Formats: sequence, C-alpha cells, structure tokens
Amino acid sequence: MIIGVPKEIKIGETRVSMPPSLCRRCVSLGAQVLIQKGAGITAGFRDDEYRAAGATLVGSAAKVWRAADLILKVKEPLAEEYPLLREGQALFTYLHLAAGPELAKVLLKKRILGIAYETVEGSDGQFPLLKPMSQIAGRLSIQIGAYFLQSQHGGSGVLLGGIPGTMPGHVVVVGAGNSGAHAVQMAAGMGARVTVLDLDTRKLEALDVEYRGRVVTLMSNPANLEHEVADADLLIGAVLIPAAKAPTVVSKKMISRMRPGSVIVDIAIDQGGCIESIRPTSHEKPVYLEHGVIHYAVPNMPALVGRTSTLGLTQATEPYVALLVQKGVARALAEHKGLAKGVNTRDGKITYDAVAKALGYA
Ligand SMILES: NC(=O)c1ccc[n+]([C@@H]2O[C@H](COP(=O)([O-])OP(=O)(O)OC[C@H]3O[C@@H](n4cnc5c(N)ncnc54)[C@H](O)[C@@H]3O)[C@@H](O)[C@H]2O)c1
Repeated sequence: MIIGVPKEIKIGETRVSMPPSLCRRCVSLGAQVLIQKGAGITAGFRDDEYRAAGATLVGSAAKVWRAADLILKVKEPLAEEYPLLREGQALFTYLHLAAGPELAKVLLKKRILGIAYETVEGSDGQFPLLKPMSQIAGRLSIQIGAYFLQSQHGGSGVLLGGIPGTMPGHVVVVGAGNSGAHAVQMAAGMGARVTVLDLDTRKLEALDVEYRGRVVTLMSNPANLEHEVADADLLIGAVLIPAAKAPTVVSKKMISRMRPGSVIVDIAIDQGGCIESIRPTSHEKPVYLEHGVIHYAVPNMPALVGRTSTLGLTQATEPYVALLVQKGVARALAEHKGLAKGVNTRDGKITYDAVAKALGYA
C-alpha cells in the first residue's frame, strides 16, 4: 500500500497527519509512505526525521495525490485539491460533509472511499478521533475569548477572573460534551463565573459533581438560554449532533441583548455553527462584529497549537492507520465495525445516514 501525506493547505493550518513515529510504524508494517516536502515543519517535524523513518520525500502535492492508494490528511480537501483526487482512491481525514456539499459532490463523482475521522466510533459509542481535537478547541476557546475581551482587541475590557472586590467575567458554555467540558475546566480554572447548558442531564450531573456547585449547570431550553446569553461576557458554542448540521441553539435576538464588546466563540462552526449570527472565519481574519458582539468561528482552531494538536490527533489515529496498513483497506473496514462507521462515501454513494439527510440525499 502507498500512503500519501500532503501538506495541509487550509489557511493557518499547522498540523500534519503523520508524525515520523507513525511513519516508521507504517513502513515496518510494509507500507510505502510518500510525504510532501515540508509537510511536518509547522508541527516541528523536519524532512530528515521522515527520511530517517523510511519515508520518501516528494516535491509536489500533485505527485503525492497521484501515487497514493490511501491519502492521510487532517482537514477536508479544499477546492484546489479536488482535481488531485484520483478515481477510487481512499481518503482518511476530517470530512465534515454536512457542512460541505461541494466536497460531497466531488467525492461521489470520483467514487472516493471517504473515511471521516469524526464518525469513526469507539466500542463505547464515542468518537475517539474527534475527542482530542474537541478537547483542544474547548481549552483554546477560553484563552481566545479572554484575548478578544481585552479592550485593545475591541472587547468589553472584562478580565475573566476579575480581582477581589470585582465581579469575575461570566462564561456561558452551550454543550457539555468534550469541547464544552474542557472549556468549563479552563474557565473555572481562570476564576470566571461559569454556566454550562446541555440537553443531556448525565453530562450536567457529572459536571455538578466534579465542580461541587462552583459551576452552574442548566438544562438547555429557550428560557434558560435567553437569560444566560444576555448576561454572558464570553459565550462558547459547543453542541454536536453527530455528523449532522449543528442545530441553531442561540438566536440573533438573544445575541442582540448581549453587552457590546462581549465575545462569542462558536466551536461547532465546522458542522455549520450553533449560533444564528455565525459564519466561518479564518486564522487570517478570525473575528467580525455583529450586534456589537465579537464573533470568532475558525473551523480549524487546533492549528493554533500545531505540535500538541498533531501529537493529540495522531496518537488517536495511529491504531486505525496501522490496521488499514496491516489488513488492507477493504478487509480492515469489513472486520472493524467502529472504523467502518467512519465511511461517509463509497462507490459514488453517501453511506452515513445523518450526512445523507443533512445534504438532502436521503
Ligand atoms: N472549530 C474547531 O476547530 C473544532 C475543533 C474540534 C471540534 N470541533 C467541533 O466542536 C463541536 C462539538 O464537539 P464535541 O466533541 O464537544 O461534541 P460532543 O458530542 O462531545 O458534545 C456535544 C454536546 O452537545 C450537546 N447538545 C446537543 N444539542 C444541544 C442543545 N440543543 N443544547 C445544548 N447542548 C446540546 C450534546 O448533548 C453533547 O453533550 C463539533 O461540531 C466538533 O466537530 C470544532
């Protein structure tokens, strides 16, 4: 099997899908690994480390795409990469197709076997390849929010932890899953006043026990959301309905009642976002102002910390990549139910129900 690792080209992306240690493992299992020159540099991995691990370094992305049976990436292919996809090729990466109808069309037309990191399932029914990046995005969301709350960055000038004798900032987190729980942890650690809302009472109960009442947990319903959002200095969107387009949970009307200079970080933007006034931004221009509120919605937040994110992502992908090499793609998918759940497109069809529904194919 030839595995191809192209350099990521999304704006500000710094991750790479394979560190030298995984490259060494794939080579020892019999794969040939083609790495585009410089693919690992922004994550702190030099070309000579890949060469020492047995990779073949290739000058252009086109050569990698053309030769590989399996393309291993981090982010979904972008329009510039569509022509490089080879008919029938296997692609293992984040796809987020519910928010990418154009990409879906290309994958179907070229009969790509699209295995999406975000829908691979663990034996516990969780999403092991989404989890580490959600944890990172959750933690980052608070430091990003704190940065944009600063007066010099257009924010309201609120210090999240406050000081004795002043009110701390109010952080409202919608969604208490992986990213939400890690946002809560960072915000509480900074001394902010934290409220978290979810539909799942078990998640709220777990946080209530963990923080012994220091974090307010609330059922996510319109009345609670309306009340809390209006008082938020920093609002974090962290909801997910697996593989589906994110539901709009916070309305424009709620946002219009927030104090000027307050900040929204919608982590769920990669699935379309859960806040009505949100639209995707990029690392080059991460924020915009609407209703006097700063909106941040970068779909690849973990790229801000390329080294940690690469290590966090690839420690999770490694067992699956090793399985694909050892057994071959078809057998690995036939034998491993959780990995097979990652298949979103195959033989010109959308094979994941929630994605098919979101894109109107069902
Ligand atoms: N922007 C980025 O760079 C980035 C990075 C990583 C993950 N993400 C995205 O973040 C999102 C969240 O991922 P996660 O791993 O935390 O998901 P998760 O499944 O662990 O948690 C999602 C939570 O949302 C809750 N939820 C669903 N509907 C809700 C509603 N109406 N109100 C309140 N809560 C609701 C669920 O009960 C669940 O607890 C996903 O879209 C994921 O792809 C984005």
